Amino acid sequence: MSLTSYVTLGRSGLRVSPFTLGTMTFGNDHGWGSGPAESKDILAAYLGAGGNSIDTANIYTNGHSEAIIGEYLSASPGLRDRIVLGTKFFWNLHSGDPNGGGPGRKATVRQLEDSLRRLRTDYVDLYWLHNFDPVTPVEETLRTLDDLVTAGKIRYVGFSDVPAWATAEAATVARFRGWAPVVALQLEYSLLERTSEGELIPMAQALGMGVLPWSPLRSGFLSGKYSSATTGADASGVDTTRAAMVGAPRAEDYAVIDTVNEIAAELRVSPAAVALSWAQGRPGITSTLIGARRVDQLETNLAALDLTMGDQHRARLDEVSRPRLNFPADNNAALSRLARNGGTTVDGVPTPLSPLLAASAARY
Ligand SMILES: NC(=O)c1ccc[n+]([C@@H]2O[C@H](COP(=O)([O-])OP(=O)(O)OC[C@H]3O[C@@H](n4cnc5c(N)ncnc54)[C@H](OP(=O)(O)O)[C@@H]3O)[C@@H](O)[C@H]2O)c1
Repeated sequence: MSLTSYVTLGRSGLRVSPFTLGTMTFGNDHGWGSGPAESKDILAAYLGAGGNSIDTANIYTNGHSEAIIGEYLSASPGLRDRIVLGTKFFWNLHSGDPNGGGPGRKATVRQLEDSLRRLRTDYVDLYWLHNFDPVTPVEETLRTLDDLVTAGKIRYVGFSDVPAWATAEAATVARFRGWAPVVALQLEYSLLERTSEGELIPMAQALGMGVLPWSPLRSGFLSGKYSSATTGADASGVDTTRAAMVGAPRAEDYAVIDTVNEIAAELRVSPAAVALSWAQGRPGITSTLIGARRVDQLETNLAALDLTMGDQHRARLDEVSRPRLNFPADNNAALSRLARNGGTTVDGVPTPLSPLLAASAARY
């Protein structure tokens, strides 16, 4: 596989690379990210390898990430239309202004205008609602986004970090109103955070949404920098500046971290490649959001595309990281097993499981 093995994003015609470049690390005003020059080198390396999908947000380094991308695009004629550029709205960048953020109509339009100015473009391909707002009526947000599609300022709509019930409601409202659909989700997903398998990922599969997992290395915990031997009990090997930002692995995370490191050693690849290849290969995943602070990290991460793990390695990783999901996951899994036995007609002809039920039964 390579960055040019483009896949369609959910039930849409938009083609994206199997890894999307995350740019939360762009801009170093918070003390640990990449400065403008290194950020542009990362962009060049990703695009040079055939990548076409870039993810940012208005909040990343308070707009600096978008500004760095905008500068890069304006210096590369013709590039803008070839890439899939996504940004997000929600977080308030205007201190003291109650309409400076959030998904209301006034705030959404203003946030987009600000992002377009920083990105030096007149449209974004994917416009993501960055978080859940229990106050604003979903119809207001969806109608605003649909208007922005009609106005040619955004091409597609995505939801990030919104509960499954609220996303499903939004998708249903949009479908029956004929408004722009929610074509994709962003959610935290890695070997150390699999609880989206309970509701969000099955919802995405059922409703035709692409899934972009974020923090696939759990902010670097799965990159090989951690192990029970070096950073475990006394945490002596932990980079304390970075730990102040992202915390440190919990004691129970080390079973997963050590297994990733062991498999990487067996396969003679990096731990990051193992963790990223696992994430990208999971059911329902469209394009994994890779984060890199330096070009060498990006190159290590892109090498994950060359890795095809065998069933045994995948099974070991699945098992050691198996999540405890919220109700009704276990209850439904038990019922789907029953359906397999009980799904016969009176004359004994087995009734095949629906593909959805069969997929969920196979998971347990
Ligand atoms: N929608 C959302 O709410 C949301 C939330 C978070 C992120 N995102 C998106 O997802 C993208 C990825 O998230 P993330 O940055 O948290 O991903 P991540 O891959 O889990 O963590 C990235 C960090 O891991 C370390 N790292 C990455 N590759 C490495 C390598 N090969 N070797 C050693 N260390 C490595 C670096 O940390 P050091 O700085 O310590 O070197 C880097 O900053 C973001 O850029 C953003 O676009 C979205």
